[in-house]
Amino acid sequence: MVFVRALTRIVLYVVHVAIKCLSAVVFYRQNKVSSAAAADVFHNQLNYNGPKSFSEIPGPRAIPFFGSQWLYIWPGPYSLEKLHIANQDKFTKYGLIVRENHLWNFPIIHLYDKSDIEAVLRQPSKHPIRPELEAQSAYRRSRPDRYNSVGIVNAQGSEWHHLRSKLVPQLSRLSPLDAIRELCSISDELIRKIKKDCQSSQALDNFEKYVYRYGLEATVAVLLDQRLGTLKECIPPVAARLMEATDKLFEVSHDTMYGLPWWKYIPSKPYQELINCENTIYEVFADFVSKAKQPDIKTGMNENSYLDQILAMDDVDDRDKLVTLIDLVAAGIETTGNAAIFLLYNIISNPSVRKSVYEELDEIVPLGSEITLETMQHLPYLRACLTESLRLSPVAPNIARILEKPFIFQDYYVPAGTLVVCETWVACLQDSNFDNAKKFIPERWLYGETKSSPFLAIPFGVGRRMCPGKRLAEQEIMILTAKLLQNFEMVFTEPVEQVYKFLISPKGPVKVIFKERSSLNT
Ligand code: HEM
Repeated sequence: MVFVRALTRIVLYVVHVAIKCLSAVVFYRQNKVSSAAAADVFHNQLNYNGPKSFSEIPGPRAIPFFGSQWLYIWPGPYSLEKLHIANQDKFTKYGLIVRENHLWNFPIIHLYDKSDIEAVLRQPSKHPIRPELEAQSAYRRSRPDRYNSVGIVNAQGSEWHHLRSKLVPQLSRLSPLDAIRELCSISDELIRKIKKDCQSSQALDNFEKYVYRYGLEATVAVLLDQRLGTLKECIPPVAARLMEATDKLFEVSHDTMYGLPWWKYIPSKPYQELINCENTIYEVFADFVSKAKQPDIKTGMNENSYLDQILAMDDVDDRDKLVTLIDLVAAGIETTGNAAIFLLYNIISNPSVRKSVYEELDEIVPLGSEITLETMQHLPYLRACLTESLRLSPVAPNIARILEKPFIFQDYYVPAGTLVVCETWVACLQDSNFDNAKKFIPERWLYGETKSSPFLAIPFGVGRRMCPGKRLAEQEIMILTAKLLQNFEMVFTEPVEQVYKFLISPKGPVKVIFKERSSLNT
């Protein structure tokens, strides 16, 4: 039986490969034909020698089936862990537009020019298309008992529009007062934990783990009005399961998205792990939701939490509510954590910036004083540091879209349906776009000094698919940073390296020495 199953899979695989090869050939021919035809049309209409065809776009050499993927396999020059650096290198080698062929020679266009990026992101679209996480969508589609859709991050078209228009507006109705109170209380808990765990050595060997716990605790507290207890001495089993699953989810999403797609034919290890993470997260949240439906066991203090608001809606499928909740929490943990670590690192490793941040904090929220909605509005320098840190060390280095109409970029014809990646981070590092672009200069965001394109420093994306968690993320990061710097002088004992794990993350373990500020002054 096992043998027959294995044989069937091999046959299916071979058939699939054959179909892919055939479609790759057809795709090429069509592209050549369509781009040549388009070039002709333009030539006739505009009477000039262009545009050039899609296949002429420069880029790394592609081989049959594997496209340019060989570059990422040893001894190739690139690694998936440094995908953002590879994309920077392609710009240096090939210029403002680069064509790279993914597996089966599926083309991807990288754009580095600010006008091209702006043209893509400004394009009015009712339902902008961002490529999905194929493996996650495949699993969710296979479980209609649990999922009515693939979720807001993966969905497209009217399915996406339904989720976004029904289940996102509630986020902007959350009370900032409640959120700030909750975030301050979680930050205080984190600080107590750091003080306790640092007692003997004054140092933490894995600071990133503490920050991710804060991210998970904070996002769940604000959205579900529930405290998980991830910062407690003894972590409740549910919180521990959730922490492990959300930690792993990004790693396995990266592996299934960028690795060879074996999961389509056999239950490969990354796919199996992805399913395990999905199942754990689903079960934990399903339990939260079912408890929230019973008013007698409500534990939180907030009467208008995100969860309460969506549960009160009658015209949305319960499965859509649950998957949106899951996607919001999952999208909010490592993103916020990574951005907070890079911000702290950028501040601490620039002495003049560090001095100005401490001066601002000591004046507006000195040690022992509470951070409030009002004081938050009087921290312009810290806010400028956050904007600058997200420009220089973003969590998402690019914004991907599938073109809904043909474009001409850098005089090359690019047909509708092409996957384009707007390489905003690389563009942000060019002196032609920002003065002293590679330097951390928060002042550029103060006094209206920066006159760059509004489509370059866009850490949360733009348009209708823009990140709905922007306000919450900014609050979480600002409060965490202000509280940590109020309480400590921090020293990163080693440079924090950036690695690509679906997002740009700090390469762990991140080692930090903490000196309590109260004792410094004595
Ligand atoms: C520093 C923290 C964060 C960063 C840098 C970030 C960045 C992004 C980016 C770049 C996108 C894609 C936007 C586009 O395609 O135009 C996105 C989408 C998304 N983010 Fe965030 N995010 C952060 C925090 C959060 C938080 C806290 C939440 C939840 C409360 C969240 C939920 C989402 C969701 C659900 C989407 C998909 C939206 C859609 O497709 O309609 N993010 N985020």
